[in-house]
Amino acid sequence: MANTEPSLPGNPIGIFDSGVGGLSVWREIVRQLPAENTVYVADQAHIPYGQRPLDEVRHLTENVTRFLLTQGAKLIVVACNTASGAALHTLREKFPDVPFVGMEPAVKPAVERTRTGAIGVIATPVTFQGDLFAGLVARFGNGVKLHTRACPGLVEAVEAGALDTPETEALLRHYLTPMLAAGIDQLVLGCTHYPFLSATIQRIVGSEVTLIDPAPAVARQVGRVLTQRGLAAPSTQPGQHHFYTSGDAAKFSAIARRLLGDEPLNVTAISI
Ligand code: DGL
Repeated sequence: MANTEPSLPGNPIGIFDSGVGGLSVWREIVRQLPAENTVYVADQAHIPYGQRPLDEVRHLTENVTRFLLTQGAKLIVVACNTASGAALHTLREKFPDVPFVGMEPAVKPAVERTRTGAIGVIATPVTFQGDLFAGLVARFGNGVKLHTRACPGLVEAVEAGALDTPETEALLRHYLTPMLAAGIDQLVLGCTHYPFLSATIQRIVGSEVTLIDPAPAVARQVGRVLTQRGLAAPSTQPGQHHFYTSGDAAKFSAIARRLLGDEPLNVTAISI
């Protein structure tokens, strides 16, 4: 059941993804807005979202949103490109009082920065199917060569902590080699899991190709929306962070520590 209390500045920011990928956004939010409390949900019982029908992804994201509202979320970050592309507009319709911040592949900055006129975008299959991606290409894609590639298997590799194994590297080479041959100089990481593969990706593409992760821009947008609505954290104390997964709490904890290189996390298993 949704929390009917009005949102207060001390309430947490809700953040969700199908798994650990959204932690690449979470860490940037915590870095930029250290006084904010956060509640993070990984819907690992249903991962990967990126290979499910759009309607199913919409339904799953509504359930996660309801859970976050029971935790008092004052703003919800859809820290998943797949869920944002499939469901952001329906979430805004269904929960009109809730401020949402979503992700979109950073096509615009890539187009602004390219010198070769060729940019690459990697994401899940569902992200490329949604209207959101088609809209980005229509608005910003003029005059550049856009090389898109759906990359099944990479989300699973990050979830398993296989960030730098020979298998993950081979998969990445398979996806990226045609883009390199096409002369890209900007590579948009269109899935929140992929920044955790940045070191391996950069080794493959070389220093001439810039990787673009939208997490810092998303965190800035979260800060702007909170300020506009008078919802920024009132205290200067470091925020408290709670993590929930619909999968296995111990597994989430282990992989999250590996990805974030941090203290043990407060993780609770839930069913969504
Ligand atoms: N992190 C999600 C994204 O940004 C991965 C989605 C999935 O579960 O396939 O698209």
